[in-house]
Amino acid sequence: MRTVLIAALCLAAVAPVRAEMPARPARLGLCAACHGEHGMAQIPGAPNLAGQRLDYLRAALGQYRDGRRDVALMKAAIGPVSDAELDQLARWYSAQTPAVQP
Ligand code: HEC
Repeated sequence: MRTVLIAALCLAAVAPVRAEMPARPARLGLCAACHGEHGMAQIPGAPNLAGQRLDYLRAALGQYRDGRRDVALMKAAIGPVSDAELDQLARWYSAQTPAVQP
């Protein structure tokens, strides 16, 4: 009984942390080449995405996808993603904690 109680308490302590971190999107690999796996840019000229507002990231990605933001590089990178994939990517980057710049 005691073990069960301790296990339950541990789960309760871990669950909220898990809930905040979204699953790693399948399409993250390409994005990571420029924006980093955790949203800190890897190349000059690419913006950091870590911790940006979810609604902002979602809107920006939608704008690249449909051409309202006419940036060939990002349009090619985002490609014809579904709304669900776009949402996953925005959630992932929004949930990252910005690292201190060296
Ligand atoms: C080849 C490099 C490259 C790749 C790959 C790439 N990006 Fe970008 N991304 C950029 C650059 C450069 C910009 C700035 C474009 C501009 O001026 O609007 C940008 C802009 C963005 C922005 C807008 C940020 C802001 O503050 O407005 C988002 C969001 C974004 N990228 C997400 C992604 C996602 C998600 C992927 C993967 C599907 C991806 N990018 C792949 C280079 C890249």
